[in-house]
Amino acid sequence: FTAQASSALRESEPVIRYEEYADVDWNNLGFGLTRTDYMYKAKCTLNSTFEQGQVTDYGNVELSPAAGVLNYGQGIFEGTKAFRGEDGRILLFRPDQNAVRMQIGAERMCMESPSIQQFVDAVKQTAIANKRWIPPSGKGSLYLRPLLIGSGPTLGVSPAPEYTFLVYASPVGNYFKEGTAPLNLCVNTEYHRATRGGAGGVKSITNYAPVIKAMLKAKEQGFSDVLYLDSVHKKYIEEVSSCNIFLVKGNTISTPATVGTILEGITRKSIIDIARDLGYKVEERLVAVDELMEADEVFTTGTAVSVASVGSVTYNGQRVEYKTGDKLVNQKLYKTLVGIQVGKIEDKYNWVVEI
Ligand code: COI
Repeated sequence: FTAQASSALRESEPVIRYEEYADVDWNNLGFGLTRTDYMYKAKCTLNSTFEQGQVTDYGNVELSPAAGVLNYGQGIFEGTKAFRGEDGRILLFRPDQNAVRMQIGAERMCMESPSIQQFVDAVKQTAIANKRWIPPSGKGSLYLRPLLIGSGPTLGVSPAPEYTFLVYASPVGNYFKEGTAPLNLCVNTEYHRATRGGAGGVKSITNYAPVIKAMLKAKEQGFSDVLYLDSVHKKYIEEVSSCNIFLVKGNTISTPATVGTILEGITRKSIIDIARDLGYKVEERLVAVDELMEADEVFTTGTAVSVASVGSVTYNGQRVEYKTGDKLVNQKLYKTLVGIQVGKIEDKYNWVVEI
């Protein structure tokens, strides 16, 4: 990342930072926001295409009080990570898949969206500009948050007249405060994350605030997070507040099918491919909560979460404990995924993008 490259990325006179690493306690990264140097920004009016975006100083975004995102929740986001390999290479994991998912989400939410190439370039530029914030290999990653919002004003319910595409970044470690210790989940039977025909299958900002209440209550009771059930039968597992769920029984791994209420996680589908290649049978189908209570292992997946072992699930007052430890199927999947992400295991899938 040279002075010239930095200058080309910036819209105003650059303040170039030469340090290899920012001043961060790399051994104690959680999932809090650390302010980094730069973000990417591009705009577009309704029924047109995004202008060429720019890397600018990280900072607040000015919005009309009538902005579509503030009034009607017209917003979607993505999450992807940049990793530093042991050899110093900077690697992104399947950013094109986030770009495709943003386009699908934008279509659902009647928003304009950046092209795949623009999205991937924006993520690359944001990661490179914030290179000193990418943790040393093995200490975490730079979480990149692409955000697409209806930024133009609209008083009536309608698509906003203008859209803003942003990418910001923060160094992160483990998502849960438990670190890598197994999670204790509770099944919530009162609140639902999504309904058929709703927006649960896309990464709409409107899917997240409604789960905070159930999540806080669960955390007060000592749980790590909440597992939601389908809203029709109240019987089939769907997902956790911030991640997808899997169970292992014998040689078979099962996960809820994505039928519009479940986020099509990129880690989810990567784990499905890895598991099949490692010889497991993987089923995407309706999974009853009763089956979960009889599983050998349970784990969650997500970009933020990676692959996290579940130690217990509590449902209707009954607590079931699962096998934990290094030998589990989910730990094998985790090590393979992370090995590919940091360039330690051969990437036969072509998932990793070096920048
Ligand atoms: C991610 O895994 O990137 C997510 O978007 C989860 C987020 C709600 C923390």
